[in-house]
Amino acid sequence: MKLNWKDCWSLKKQNHLLVKLTISILLMGLAFRLFVFKSEEFTAPSDLETSASADVDRAEVVTEEAKAGAEAEAKQPVVSTVDDDVSEYEDQNQMPQNELEDQNGMPIKEKCNLFIGDWVPNPSGPVYTNATCPLIEGHQNCMRNGRPDSGYLYWRWKPRDCELTQFDPENFLDMMRNKTWALIGDSISRNHVQSFLCILSTVEQAVEVYHDEEYRSKRWHFPSYNFTVSAIWSPFLAKAAIFEDYNGVSTSEVELHLDKLDKKWTEQFPNLDYMIISTGKWFLKSSIYYENDTVVGCHYCPKRNLTELGFDFAYGKTLRSVLDFIATSKHKGSIFFRTATPDHFEHGDWHNGTCEKTDPFKEGEIELNYLTKILRDIELAEFEKASAKAAENGVNLKLLDFTSLSLLRPDGHPGPYREFQPFAKDKNARVQKDCLHWCLPGPIDAWNDLIMEMIVNR
Ligand SMILES: *[C@@H]1O[C@H](CO)[C@@H](O)[C@H](O)[C@H]1NC(C)=O
Ligand SMILES: *[C@@H]1O[C@H](CO)[C@@H](O)[C@H](O)[C@H]1NC(C)=O
Ligand SMILES: *[C@@H]1O[C@H](CO)[C@@H](O)[C@H](O)[C@H]1NC(C)=O
Ligand SMILES: *[C@@H]1O[C@H](CO)[C@@H](O)[C@H](O)[C@H]1NC(C)=O
Ligand SMILES: *[C@@H]1O[C@H](CO)[C@@H](O)[C@H](O)[C@H]1NC(C)=O
Ligand SMILES: *[C@@H]1O[C@H](CO)[C@@H](O)[C@H](O)[C@H]1NC(C)=O
Repeated sequence: MKLNWKDCWSLKKQNHLLVKLTISILLMGLAFRLFVFKSEEFTAPSDLETSASADVDRAEVVTEEAKAGAEAEAKQPVVSTVDDDVSEYEDQNQMPQNELEDQNGMPIKEKCNLFIGDWVPNPSGPVYTNATCPLIEGHQNCMRNGRPDSGYLYWRWKPRDCELTQFDPENFLDMMRNKTWALIGDSISRNHVQSFLCILSTVEQAVEVYHDEEYRSKRWHFPSYNFTVSAIWSPFLAKAAIFEDYNGVSTSEVELHLDKLDKKWTEQFPNLDYMIISTGKWFLKSSIYYENDTVVGCHYCPKRNLTELGFDFAYGKTLRSVLDFIATSKHKGSIFFRTATPDHFEHGDWHNGTCEKTDPFKEGEIELNYLTKILRDIELAEFEKASAKAAENGVNLKLLDFTSLSLLRPDGHPGPYREFQPFAKDKNARVQKDCLHWCLPGPIDAWNDLIMEMIVNR
């Protein structure tokens, strides 16, 4: 395995990260040697998850990157607090709050960073349930699956310096007559689209009008409002060949083209009024990198004689072209770029980790793990560059910095309740726990309150 880390890191003077990253790569190698991956389902495949039959007796579900990440995290101290990162970006997405007056006597609004705050009790609870929303994917349907505690449902997000209005689906649908939305990205994006649709479906039931062969990209329509919502499956946002067979067995590394965007979203881009774009964890997978259709290197490809470029290299390069495409597009709609969300695996990883907390953390009580931090730092840096360019071109590009507020919700994941009644037959059953995706209803519902705030009150 040839690691050429010097090239990739020397410019950044981040030697501490270099050590941690190297350890993570080595652990990823270990993970790969131990497991063969195959996906566990067909009709509703979960992209970040891949079920792995260990060569012996256990059938376990792991994600190579989450696994490696969690393993490395367990061994590594975190590198910095979330607040440190957030404070650098306090100027972004500032929201109006208290009315003041400018020198002309016109009301101006005090700025409030919507993404810094705490979760506070919300006795009224979620606006939908497993019984009222038929669109919740099985693995995220914690209520139906028998999750015994319900405290995680009774919190709302409170930005430190202002109040957040609850998403008003009726008002929202009214504003969205004849409009189209798309949520573009991986399974966290799909998790979000379900939350979005479930809230809107309290007013009118969404009608599914399209799905691709694998049920990964979908489209829904709200007939009375002629409002269209799409989930566009594009886990890398760039052109990628993913070698998973019918059962999801990965037979080769991902072939990722760092200089070509995924047409799945770029072709629809001009016709969309609103977009939420995100990516993240898929970049941690074993990949061969291409530029100009020529192999330029790889990330974790020990069997190949290629230069290790590091996932951070690919992530930065891809986000640069994604955001550049957007910033120079002359698009007249609203485009949101969402940051990566953290997982909360403790005492292990995808095959043996847990998330048993039933309450949120308070601001400052938990720090971001180093892999998510690397992803987020790249996102923030690339977004900052792109947003200046977008402003020059009159493109409405905004950041949804959901990393920190999501980090405070270790209680919001399905854990063992990704399966239906996991302990019905055996209360000590060994079951796969999902500490990455979010229960529905759950904390991810608050994302919509924030988006609404940014659309209505900007
Ligand atoms: C919803 O979940 C409850 C348990 O919380 C269960 O009794 C009920 O059958 C579920 N309903 C549907 C439609 O899944
Ligand atoms: C929606 O589109 C229809 C048909 O083009 C048009 O008649 C209607 O006025 C539009 N409504 C809004 C709110 O733009
Ligand atoms: C629905 O909205 C689309 C734009 O998204 C518009 O082209 C179409 O005319 C609208 N249809 C009706 C019946 O209003
Ligand atoms: C891309 O590759 C083609 C041939 O495959 C070559 O002609 C061209 O110069 C290359 N472009 C760049 C920018 O490297
Ligand atoms: C790996 O590539 C280098 C440079 O391209 C070459 O010198 C070396 O012989 C290769 N090693 C193997 C084992 O193929
Ligand atoms: C979880 O698995 C990893 C690697 O397979 C191992 O290093 C770790 O000790 C395990 N943790 C627990 C709590 O069993």
